[in-house]
Amino acid sequence: MTAIALGADHAGFPLKEDLKAWLIGRGYDVVDCGTQSPEPVDYPDFAALVASAVTTGKASRGVLVCGSGLGMSMAANKVAGIRAAACADAYTARLSREHNDANVLALGARITARDAAVEILETWLGAAFAGGRHTPRVAKLGALDRAHGEHDAPAR
Ligand code: RB5
Repeated sequence: MTAIALGADHAGFPLKEDLKAWLIGRGYDVVDCGTQSPEPVDYPDFAALVASAVTTGKASRGVLVCGSGLGMSMAANKVAGIRAAACADAYTARLSREHNDANVLALGARITARDAAVEILETWLGAAFAGGRHTPRVAKLGALDRAHGEHDAPAR
């Protein structure tokens, strides 16, 4: 596995730092896309940086942290080729790899404590795409990117 790209907003910054230290301690190369302080920032900016690192091959996978994990996953999933999963437990983290071939993990620092986040991340990194019946389904996610990538949701 090449590097893991990490990104966070202000709410996710402290957990991002903890996960960065854990990854480095486990021998992973880390591409830290920020943020680098608890000053308020906008989560889509950091989701975009991590998504680009993954789609360009600078990193093999990405990890994003915001308050809930939701905004980061929504933003990352706007980028063609990204399959981001917001996970609050190890079971869904494992399934996101085995069934969905998730290439980005989104975590919520306000809902997941540091040790649980490490367990989720470790599970996610250790799980492999199962292929088989899941392959054409994941291919259809790519087809959705190609068919709808240039359209936005209607304004409200
Ligand atoms: C920031 O207050 C919070 O909205 C953000 O971290 C994230 O949870 C958004 O989805």
